[in-house]
Amino acid sequence: MWITKFTEQLGIKYPIIQAPMAGSTKPELVSAISNAGGLGSFGAGSSDAKMIRSAIRKIREQTNNPFAVNLFIPEKAVNGLDHVNQINSLMNLYRQELRILPPSDDTQIPVQSIDEQIEVIIEEKVPVISFTFGYLDPTRVHELKRNGVIVIGTATTVQEAVYLEQCGVNMIVGQGSEAGGHRATFLGEFNSSLIGTLALIPQIVDSVNIPVISAGGIMDGRGIAAALALGASGVQMGTAFLTSKESGAHEKHKEAILNSTEEQSVVTRTFSGKPARGIRNKFITEMERYNDIIPGYPIQGELTKDIRKAASEQNDIEFMSLWAGQASRLSRCLPAKEIFDSLITQTESIIKNLNKYS
Ligand SMILES: Cc1cc2nc3c(=O)[nH]c(=O)nc-3n(C[C@H](O)[C@H](O)[C@H](O)COP(=O)(O)O)c2cc1C
Repeated sequence: MWITKFTEQLGIKYPIIQAPMAGSTKPELVSAISNAGGLGSFGAGSSDAKMIRSAIRKIREQTNNPFAVNLFIPEKAVNGLDHVNQINSLMNLYRQELRILPPSDDTQIPVQSIDEQIEVIIEEKVPVISFTFGYLDPTRVHELKRNGVIVIGTATTVQEAVYLEQCGVNMIVGQGSEAGGHRATFLGEFNSSLIGTLALIPQIVDSVNIPVISAGGIMDGRGIAAALALGASGVQMGTAFLTSKESGAHEKHKEAILNSTEEQSVVTRTFSGKPARGIRNKFITEMERYNDIIPGYPIQGELTKDIRKAASEQNDIEFMSLWAGQASRLSRCLPAKEIFDSLITQTESIIKNLNKYS
């Protein structure tokens, strides 16, 4: 049952990816999952080439098994540009509350060079690259594949999945609307691309000829068995590993997830300008009334950076971006290997007992 097109292509034991989560997927987490027989992923979207090389080497010190590095496809903000100063002044209220000074006017947006990031991935012979927020052009995909790298794109609709397949990727992560973190949507409107995992995966499976990996709301063996039944060749799980001991998430973020319920989950643009799913807090509730004028990604992310940093230093969850999926109630704080091993045991038992009356 564990042999799928995904495990075959990657040469790994179990079709489970620990989702890349920029800022939280430390080498210790990535290697723990790869050592356990899954695919650990390092979220490198906001890292420069030097940081990526150092993380790759740290991962390699701890595992000989395959792992993935994940990148963000760069984009330019398109909306709300006229309101940057207005939104920034509105947020001074929170800066006062956090006792920090307003930033200077010349906010610079650091854009990581995807060319340099990819160069490191090729040079360091990373076995798998995944990406989100867009597509890599076919020439680039071909170059990666020619260098032995397996390429995984992320889609939130059938249209995006078909587009990525045409660009030449090896596999597709289908990200359902339950998923924690940023929406990967890159074609069409965000609102009409909020498709639940149960509806999205079989429709993508029917529309492409490459392996599909299911993401969004999968926390235990029940979710894994369901995804395989939908035709997925694997799963990608973020929130389930975000609260693990090895995760680099802030302790207060982990605590908030462990104590959260599904009703607290919300998709918001307030922190970064790009819709992302997390736990509702004061910042979201108060800022969402300005949704129409909040600048687009990555500008809003840069404007809120000092607020998020101060909140994190002061352990104040009301101003931190508490990204998490809708099934956060099922999260557990355990070593990553224990979480992983229990996923395997549960899935095997569920599949064995599927035909029993429930
Ligand atoms: C804290 C957090 C950070 C994330 N960062 C990334 C990222 O850097 N790159 C990416 O492709 N996906 C990222 N995601 C989305 C995951 O890849 C995945 O789609 C999601 O976690 C699946 O839903 P789940 O959290 O319910 O398992 C992030 C998710 C979370 C919760």
